[in-house]
Amino acid sequence: MVPLKRRKVSSNVGDNNPEAPNKFPQVVLFLLERKMGASRRAFLSQLGRRKGFQVEELFSESVTHVVSENNSGLEVRTWLDSQGRGQGRTPVHLLDISWYTESMRAGLPVQILDTHKLQEQRTDDAEVVVFCVPSYACQRRTTLENHNTILTDALSLLAENAELSDQEGRSVAFRRAAAVMKALPGAVTGVTQLRGLPCLGEHSLRVIKDILETGASAEVESTKQSERYKALKVLTGIFGVGPKTAERWIREGIHTLQQLQDSGHTLNRAQQAGLQHYDDLNQPVAKAEADAIAEVVERAVVSVSPGAQVTLTGGFRRGKPTGHDVDFLITHPEEGGEDGLMSKVVSRLESQGFLLYQKTTRNSYLESKDGPARPASNMDRFERCFSIFKLHEDEGRGTGHPGTPTGNTAAANSGSPGDSDSRSQIHGGEQRLLVSGEDGGPEETKPAGHRPWRAVRVDLVVSPISQFAFALLGWTGSKLFERELRRWAGHEKTMSLSSHALYDNKQSRYLRATSEQEIFAHLGLEFIPPSERNA
Ligand code: UTP
Ligand code: MN
Repeated sequence: MVPLKRRKVSSNVGDNNPEAPNKFPQVVLFLLERKMGASRRAFLSQLGRRKGFQVEELFSESVTHVVSENNSGLEVRTWLDSQGRGQGRTPVHLLDISWYTESMRAGLPVQILDTHKLQEQRTDDAEVVVFCVPSYACQRRTTLENHNTILTDALSLLAENAELSDQEGRSVAFRRAAAVMKALPGAVTGVTQLRGLPCLGEHSLRVIKDILETGASAEVESTKQSERYKALKVLTGIFGVGPKTAERWIREGIHTLQQLQDSGHTLNRAQQAGLQHYDDLNQPVAKAEADAIAEVVERAVVSVSPGAQVTLTGGFRRGKPTGHDVDFLITHPEEGGEDGLMSKVVSRLESQGFLLYQKTTRNSYLESKDGPARPASNMDRFERCFSIFKLHEDEGRGTGHPGTPTGNTAAANSGSPGDSDSRSQIHGGEQRLLVSGEDGGPEETKPAGHRPWRAVRVDLVVSPISQFAFALLGWTGSKLFERELRRWAGHEKTMSLSSHALYDNKQSRYLRATSEQEIFAHLGLEFIPPSERNA
């Protein structure tokens, strides 16, 4: 190692003890003051120099042997790293003081034995991969590739249970923890790997630790089995039933659909439709089904407003293979061109027999009223249609004319889904439903158990073009990603972000944008594409 030697020689020239000859040029010593103390270090250094050793005052790259007292290898390594001695450089010997004192006694550098070497790392830490993750989900790229599904499923279940129990803070904490685990580039095998990761509270860490060490979390398992959780799942599985309603029913002893039916509760129109299509709506929607619905919606939109544009949003835009519903954002390239669009589209779809249920809410957003004074709410005020779509088997599969619904669709749909004669009948006390309202159509003459269509939840949202980028960003999700974007905007940028606009509270003005990229730029964030927003 010629360069090293040359360095040693040159550093020797100005050394602080010229009278002692450097007897061992291949050995350049440095004594670590940490835990040894300055006076003992000075004494030992002088001793070494008198015996003809080169002992450096300052640490430099020429040092070949680092001697310390009562330090672990990890501690010394950390100290060296802090001196800018990066990993991958020529390794130095990390030695215990015993090697030094023995060498002093021998008057020469004694052979380095294992007992002289500092244990570099505890063996169980040796293989540990430590992950590093930024703290806001909107600063991270989260693909659908999740290396920790067992952990994230467990944390998500606790999040869901908290959400269903109206414990929002708790729910968000579990969701954030799950999102951090989703963002990790590999599978976690031990809790030591989690040191320094953000958003992992005591509770989440305990759950993770239990699963890593014993294979399961008692809390998760007992929640999953609890009557309350099961009832909340069954009841909120009804479209139109939220946690509050479910909670009220559970307090009355209603845990199953059968019990709900027997209770004689009056259900609103949405809930009736939800009950009627319970099985279908609790069946995941496939991407192919979403695409088929997209074709139908697009045709309807273009037929009532040729320039209008339809975008598939929600989970499917993020590349998810399945979803609980299908979300669409509709806009028109001319500001104001979207006026009256929703009612026309809905009428069109309804007349074609595609809607089993729909409820449209009007656009209630007014910048002058809803502006910065109000905290950005996650509930936006676009004109919106919550619907239950009737998806035919042959729709979008290129059989026949996809644009022409089968003749019996309209007939089967002629009665309003909410009519009392289409009340659900529940058999066997379980979740199996037989819907009387679906009888009577010619489809029912097919062999029992086969129905050529299914019900799918579809959300339509109409946005003016000036708000389109914000609406697109807001409706692409994931929900946690959106929440984190708003938290980032508020806490880190003093801005308010909604699905309508971005307001800069420092400059007291709106920041306009015509693309998602511009919004990320306004927020000082790296652009994250939809496929990496699966937090
Ligand atoms: P979804 O609930 O449809 O979620 O909301 P998703 O990601 O598509 O997942 P699945 O597959 O259907 O279960 C889609 C996006 O729309 C926003 C949500 O924040 C989410 O980002 N959204 C939803 C609103 O902005 N307002 C709402 O009232 C509902
Ligand atoms: Mn969705």
